[in-house]
Amino acid sequence: MAKRTIVSMPGDGIGKVVLEETIRVLNAAGFEADYVEGDIGWEFWKTEGEPLPQRTLDLIEKHKIALFGAITSKPKDAAFDALSPELKEKGLVYSSPIVGLRQHFGLDICMRPCKSYKGNPLNFIKRGVSDVIEEPMVDAVIFRQNTEGLYGGVEWSNPPEKVYDALMTHPKFVKNFSKTPKEELSVSTRIFTKKATERILRAAFEHAKNYGYKNVTVCEKPNVIRETSGMMYKMAQEIQKADYPNIELWNTNIDAQMMWLTKNPENYGVIVAGNMFGDIVSDGFAGLIGGLGFACSAQFNPDSGIGVFEPTHGSAPKYADYETSIVNPIAMVESACMMLDYINEKDIAAKIRKAVAEVIAEGKVRSYDMMKMTGRPDVVERGAASTQQMADAIIAKL
Ligand code: NAI
Ligand code: MG
Repeated sequence: MAKRTIVSMPGDGIGKVVLEETIRVLNAAGFEADYVEGDIGWEFWKTEGEPLPQRTLDLIEKHKIALFGAITSKPKDAAFDALSPELKEKGLVYSSPIVGLRQHFGLDICMRPCKSYKGNPLNFIKRGVSDVIEEPMVDAVIFRQNTEGLYGGVEWSNPPEKVYDALMTHPKFVKNFSKTPKEELSVSTRIFTKKATERILRAAFEHAKNYGYKNVTVCEKPNVIRETSGMMYKMAQEIQKADYPNIELWNTNIDAQMMWLTKNPENYGVIVAGNMFGDIVSDGFAGLIGGLGFACSAQFNPDSGIGVFEPTHGSAPKYADYETSIVNPIAMVESACMMLDYINEKDIAAKIRKAVAEVIAEGKVRSYDMMKMTGRPDVVERGAASTQQMADAIIAKL
C-alpha cells in the first residue's frame, strides 16, 4: 500500500512540541507516513497578514488528513499591532484560522471523546452512599455541530434597518424589545439547518452503533429554544425510530446536563448537541477525565473525507519558551489515535491507547498537571515528567 501523506500543522506555542512528540509516538507504533508541514497561526498573521495561507489549504485539499497542534489568537487591536509595518496599511482583519478551516472545508462534524484512564490522579471522584469515595469511569463521546448555531457569525450591534424591520414582525420582539432604541440592541443569531442537523445526528447514532454505546443523548434546550433545539430533538426522534431502534434516545437540557455531570457521568454514552452547547458539554466532560492535557478532538467532513485532528487545548504561550517543555502530550497523542481510527488504522490506534493506559496506570511517569503542580520550569526537577519524557514512556510501552 502506498505510504500516506499527513499534513502536520504545529501552529504556535506548545502546539509545536506536542505535535513533534506525537509524531515520534506514531513512528514508534509503526505507522508509516510522510509528513508535510502546513503553515498556520500567529507567525503567518504577523509576517503575511494571513494566519491560514492558501498553500496550507491546498495541502489539506490534496492530502485530506491533517494533524494540528494549536494556535495563538489575540483580540482585534492586539492582532493589528502585531502586524509587520508594511502590512499595517492594508486594512487586514484577523480572523481565527480554526474557524477558517472549519468553514473552508465544511468540517461540520466535531467529535470529542472523554474517557477516563484507570489510575489517572485527575479523574473525577464523588462521595457515594455510606460516605464511600467513588471514581465513576467516564466514557462519553460528544458530537458537536461545528459550523452553525451561535458560532455561525450572523450577528449585529445596532442592526441594519431591514434586519430591525424583520425582527419587528415577531410578536415577542415587539413585546420585549421594541421600546429599546435600535442603537442599544445586539443580536446574535442561532441558525440550524436541517441538513447539518441531520448530519451531526446521524454521525452520533452511527458512532453509537459501531462502538456499542447503548444511548444517544440530545443535549439542548427544546423546552425554551423551541425552534432550533426543538428541530434537533424532533429529527433525532425520527432518525432513531427509523434507523436505530436498538439505541435509546435520551433528551437532556444543557443546564441540567452540567449538573448531572457530577452526579452520574458514567451513565452517558454518545451526546449530540449544537455548536455552543456541544462546546460547553465537551469541556464539562473533559474536566472529569483530567482536563486539557487529556482532551482530544476530531473534525471532519464525511463527504470529502477531509479530517483535522487536534487537542482542544490552545498554545499555552506561558509554557511555550521553556527550555524543557513540561506540557502533557497525551491530548495530542489521543487526537492522533482518532486520526488513525478515521483512516482505518485501528490496530495501531489501539496499540498506542494501550501504551498510554499502561503508563498512566503504572503512575511512575506523570506530567506536572497529573501531579497537580503549578506549571513552572522547575517541575521536572521536582519529579514531573517533561513532554519528551512522557512521550518516551509511551514509546517504551509500545
Ligand atoms: P490554553 O489551552 O492554551 O492554556 C490554558 C492552560 O491550560 C495553560 O496555561 C495550562 O495551564 C493548561 N494546559 C493547556 N494545555 C496543556 C497541556 N497539554 N498540558 C498541561 N496543561 C495544559 O488556553 P489559553 O491560555 O486560554 O489560550 C492561549 C492561546 O491559545 C490563546 O491565544 C488562545 O486564543 C489560543 N487557543 C487556541 C486553541 C486552538 O488552537 N485550538 C484553543 C484554545 C485557545
Ligand atoms: Mg472550548
